[in-house]
Amino acid sequence: MEWNEKLAVGIKTVDSQHKELFKRINNLVRAIKEHRCKSEIDGMLKFLDDYARVHFAEEEKHMKETGYPGIEEQREQHKKYLESLAELKAEASLPRIKCSSYDLSATTNQVVVVWIVDHILKTDMKFGDYLRSKGK
Ligand SMILES: [Fe+2]
Repeated sequence: MEWNEKLAVGIKTVDSQHKELFKRINNLVRAIKEHRCKSEIDGMLKFLDDYARVHFAEEEKHMKETGYPGIEEQREQHKKYLESLAELKAEASLPRIKCSSYDLSATTNQVVVVWIVDHILKTDMKFGDYLRSKGK
């Protein structure tokens, strides 16, 4: 899954951070599929978590500054995402025979891939529309 123009919210920093998130997610999915080592996968998950936190904080700051009324919905979704990521991290840290498992790959797809596409298209896009309607 790659970032494409349909996912453009129209806010430069947000879009470039989304692209970076896609890159990191793709790296993680690839690492899981290729059964790479647990330490590598743990490291990637941590990176993804850190990056998502920075990105969400920035998005929310931007929303606050522009008086965006949908900020609570955003905060809720961001929080849920970080919770799912924490669950994924816990699952990834469980001892296992192989370096990774099918289960982990399925969870990752559900937690990060499906979420981000859905979130950008349905929720972040509304913020982009809001800014455009305000001429910002
Ligand atoms: Fe968001």
